[in-house]
Amino acid sequence: MKFLLGIDLGTSATKTVLFDLSGVAIASSAVEYPMYQPQNGWAEQDADDWIDAAFRTTRAVIEESGINPSEIAGIGISGQMHGLVMLDENNIPLRRSIIWCDQRTAAECDEIHERVGKERLIEITANPALTGFMASKILWVRNNEPEIYAKCRHILLPKDYLRFRLTGEYATEVSDASGMQLLDVPNRCWSDEVLQALEIDKALLGKVYESVEITGYITEEAAAQTGLAVGIPVVGGAGDNAAAAVGTGVVTDGSAFTTIGTSGVVYAHTDNLLIDKKGRAHTFCCAVPGAWHVMGVTQAAGLSLQWFRDSFCSVEMEEAAKRGVSPYVVMDEKAAEVPIGSNRLIYLPYLMGERTPHLDPDCRGVFFGLSAIHQRPYLIRAVMEGVTYSLKDCFDVLREMGVSFSEMYACGGGGTSSLWRQMMADVYGCPVRTVKSKEGPALGVAILAAVGTGLYPDVKTACDAMIEANPKQEPNPENTQKYASYHKLFRNLYVSLKDDYKKLAKI
Ligand code: XUL
Repeated sequence: MKFLLGIDLGTSATKTVLFDLSGVAIASSAVEYPMYQPQNGWAEQDADDWIDAAFRTTRAVIEESGINPSEIAGIGISGQMHGLVMLDENNIPLRRSIIWCDQRTAAECDEIHERVGKERLIEITANPALTGFMASKILWVRNNEPEIYAKCRHILLPKDYLRFRLTGEYATEVSDASGMQLLDVPNRCWSDEVLQALEIDKALLGKVYESVEITGYITEEAAAQTGLAVGIPVVGGAGDNAAAAVGTGVVTDGSAFTTIGTSGVVYAHTDNLLIDKKGRAHTFCCAVPGAWHVMGVTQAAGLSLQWFRDSFCSVEMEEAAKRGVSPYVVMDEKAAEVPIGSNRLIYLPYLMGERTPHLDPDCRGVFFGLSAIHQRPYLIRAVMEGVTYSLKDCFDVLREMGVSFSEMYACGGGGTSSLWRQMMADVYGCPVRTVKSKEGPALGVAILAAVGTGLYPDVKTACDAMIEANPKQEPNPENTQKYASYHKLFRNLYVSLKDDYKKLAKI
């Protein structure tokens, strides 16, 4: 028998899944780790927590499945995008990784625009300078921690640090590298022009591959640490969103998905390069060689509900523990009892600033319209609705860019909630469906490994063989109308608060 391994290095946990060649999950394991917030708007993780989790989960799936590790034909890795991992001359991380939702680099974004020119930067990297992206984080370390920068010998993305620990290779692939803001996105290679303008030495960066290419092989040391067999090929893999696209079969023009993980993303595949000149949606290379994707990002999607759970839902957590279900199942049930609009309560999910459509590192979360009538279930529903309104903002930007799709796949933790999916269908006014596998990014990179090792000829053929879709959930036009008035007000609230957010950030 042959198997494929997908490792997805997320923000809340790393999940490793072993698949057979038809895409069925044989064994899976997840290990969680913390996110550190040393200041308001900052977000960091310990890169070695990711490695520890990836190694432990790999060992666990091999043990649980009872397979012979040499039966694993290929490994794909996926991960949270944009995080900065800096290694010293001994390959030891020099500081905690500054991750995707960190907002400290507004000044460095201005510096990037000054050095490269905003228009030219968008021509080359397909995106304006953004606090979430990696280039501004590199400059922040150089400006604020010069002693650390001086010791830096290698710069890697989160999953590419895992690749290094598995194969000994300093490498990346086009989808994740697109979010570093150092890649020439139309030409899928490092941009000498941007690197020179930012005075970043190209030698610090890994070699760029396509997502399906083999980038290295499991070393003896990694085999001893994980239980894997020496010599298993590791393909490029993909950033978590490009990986989720493959894992839901969104690999051709006209297909799109929404994922609600820690962040929320509305993603559409595009065979032709398409750039939002206003920079509200990102354009990245996708995992299908020669194609791209556009996506809008809600910074705190699942993160909003997770924050609410951890801060206020001890009752739901106790009930969930007694029933042996996830706290989110109980929260979902409570939210389902509340009418659309949460009885005039609107939540703005800007806990970590916002990307699409505001590109504003200073905005923050709001409950608007709180009344004494609002008990916890109303707030839970308001959080879910507020995240969905924000995703609708992303959806609208993609539509404005002329991207066409007639249905939306849903994935990520939030996509497993039927209530949240119906909310999406109603707010978007568009059918929403899922695929049978719940393993999104892990399945996506396992599929890339299947293609890279020659088990399937291309990504589309592999997706057709390994992915099966569920029936659609149709929107309810009456609900769409009700949500539309709330969404309009949701949009106005940001406009009303915009200047006050700036004032708050300066106090
Ligand atoms: C995408 C982004 C997030 C992270 C974490 O640009 O920042 O989706 O990849 O999931």
